Amino acid sequence: MNYPRRAWYVASWSQDLEPGKPAAVSILDESIVLWRAEDRIVAFADRCVHRLAPLSLGRCEGSRLRCGYHGILYDMEGRVVQIPGQPEVPPGARVQRYAVVEKHSWIWVWMGDLSLADETLIPPAVGFDDPDWILGRGYLDYAAEARLIHDNLLDFSHLSYVHADSFGAGPSFAEERPRLTALPRGVRFERWITGTRGPPARKSDDLVDGWSTYDFLLPGVLLMWSGSFPAGTAKSCDFEKPDHDRAIGGVTFTSQAVTPTGARAARYFFSWGPHRDHGDAALRDVLMGIAAKAFNEDKTIIEAQQRILDLTPDPRIMPTVHDRGVTLFSNLAARLVREESAAGEPFLHRGVLS
Ligand code: FES
Ligand SMILES: [Fe+2]
Repeated sequence: MNYPRRAWYVASWSQDLEPGKPAAVSILDESIVLWRAEDRIVAFADRCVHRLAPLSLGRCEGSRLRCGYHGILYDMEGRVVQIPGQPEVPPGARVQRYAVVEKHSWIWVWMGDLSLADETLIPPAVGFDDPDWILGRGYLDYAAEARLIHDNLLDFSHLSYVHADSFGAGPSFAEERPRLTALPRGVRFERWITGTRGPPARKSDDLVDGWSTYDFLLPGVLLMWSGSFPAGTAKSCDFEKPDHDRAIGGVTFTSQAVTPTGARAARYFFSWGPHRDHGDAALRDVLMGIAAKAFNEDKTIIEAQQRILDLTPDPRIMPTVHDRGVTLFSNLAARLVREESAAGEPFLHRGVLS
């Protein structure tokens, strides 16, 4: 796989990692165990240094993790601190440790050199700790390469065809292009849809102008704000970004993250919900029902696309005008991968580090 390593990948929803229960996850085809030590989250290679049993089948003992096979005990740094029945611990015996941060209700793992882990690069998602938003959450496992999901999220022209019913997306997504801006670690999309009644769940009685903007950021995180404004707002602000306080409804936020788990496997995490001034838990549940339908529509077409790609020797594509965001983002990711490899980004060692 060709994904940057010097980036924070979403490993799990915070709520899904229970205290005392190690959990197995996979990122970039590497098996990782996450566990809650007394005051922080720890991530190790999910592979005991003794006979490589997965540590995710072990147990937490306060700030330590014990292998469930022959009982080797690890501290939070990954050092072996006890081998049952053997007084001596070989010097340097330790399991690979990853940098891990819990933020915005996600558990983020840095897949690059541990010493370069930079928390400021964590995308500014909205978590359940933000009182402004009433969110629901979920995830979907894909039998497809993460890159294909990136491509999907970087080109909303598919909304007019894949999500005409679920999201109630009209033809304008395919017929008009959003404004794109290259960001240092991603691409920004901005779009006005004028004179609309809005999608079914947020239908307005009067015509409104709908504004939406999202950033798609490395390594594959989408953060989108949408809202409805009085008809004429788009024109009055010259089709630029509106003042968010003037929104009259339909204000929602969604955070989404695509994590490559294997060569042709990915986990797609998502949350969505209304601003507390523009909705409640009931609306959130309606939105999550729509999202479940819509995201399964994406999954159906992307997994089918993956199957055709797998059957196609030397697959070629024919880009359209709508692929500009895809191209910008994939060039950015490719540049990062090249820079990392020129800088000698060490690919993770499996098993024992000494
Ligand atoms: S495999 Fe972990 S202690 Fe033996
Ligand atoms: Fe979609």
